[in-house]
Amino acid sequence: ERTCVVTGAASGIGAAVAESFRASGHTVIGVDVAGGDVHADLSRPDGRRFAVEQLTRRAAAVDVVVACAGLARPEPVTLSVNYFGVVDLLAGLLPLLRRGRSPRVVVVSSVAAVHRTLDSLVQACLDHDEEAALDLGRRAVEAGKGIGIYAASKQALARWVRRTASTEAWAGHGIALNAVGPGVVLTPMIAAEWASPAGREALSRQVPMPLTRGPIDVGQIVRTVRFLADPDNTAVTGQTVYVDGGADAQLRGDRQ
Ligand code: NAI
Repeated sequence: ERTCVVTGAASGIGAAVAESFRASGHTVIGVDVAGGDVHADLSRPDGRRFAVEQLTRRAAAVDVVVACAGLARPEPVTLSVNYFGVVDLLAGLLPLLRRGRSPRVVVVSSVAAVHRTLDSLVQACLDHDEEAALDLGRRAVEAGKGIGIYAASKQALARWVRRTASTEAWAGHGIALNAVGPGVVLTPMIAAEWASPAGREALSRQVPMPLTRGPIDVGQIVRTVRFLADPDNTAVTGQTVYVDGGADAQLRGDRQ
């Protein structure tokens, strides 16, 4: 039996991941703004600290963290939840992970990570400068480029995984760190867009594989998370596994 922390556990992908671990007999501690076991606002530094405190109180060791909490709003707060909310929480949970058995961490990026985006915003995230990132985010919104904020947050997260996974603090302690990059998954996050014919058409175009044209089943994301989080995964770390019906391959082609 493993102790699993799942953020964003109240809805969508996080809820499905939490349910899957529970169904296999593992202990899940869900973190969300409401509806989880630990209620914390991961958009705020004090909320992240509170979550770490509460989790440290509840568990002596953590074997799995799956960071699903995220926002897709074209607003600066999306950077705080999708990037800083993940990176700060994981930094705070490292001591618990080091005490875990075969510790595994999976963060949820997105196929949006391969979209062309606002490079300065990605850099501010990777520099771990939240003030600067929020400031650039506000300026992007003013310039009518708020739509790029989501992609920037997910690209920064995927790059953070890549530069962090092989370090002494992670690989050196046997902690695998990977990302999944979902394509279009029908959850409350995209429900409104999916409800309109134009939105449905636009979203469907983003899934090239004919068999799955339309949204990807959330179960496909869960299986990939479970594979990466399994103790038997002793070799995959630092990767983003796109579960996107071919969207990454279509967008990036064969570029290395
Ligand atoms: P969702 O909206 O159903 O669930 C997101 C969860 O995160 C919610 O329970 C929400 O309360 C929580 N959350 C948001 N802000 C928070 C905060 N400040 N503090 C704590 N929790 C917070 O969305 P979905 O689709 O399940 O998304 C999960 C992850 O998957 C997100 O990171 C999203 O960006 C990513 N993703 C989703 C895709 C999709 O098509 N649905 C595609 C690619 C990535």
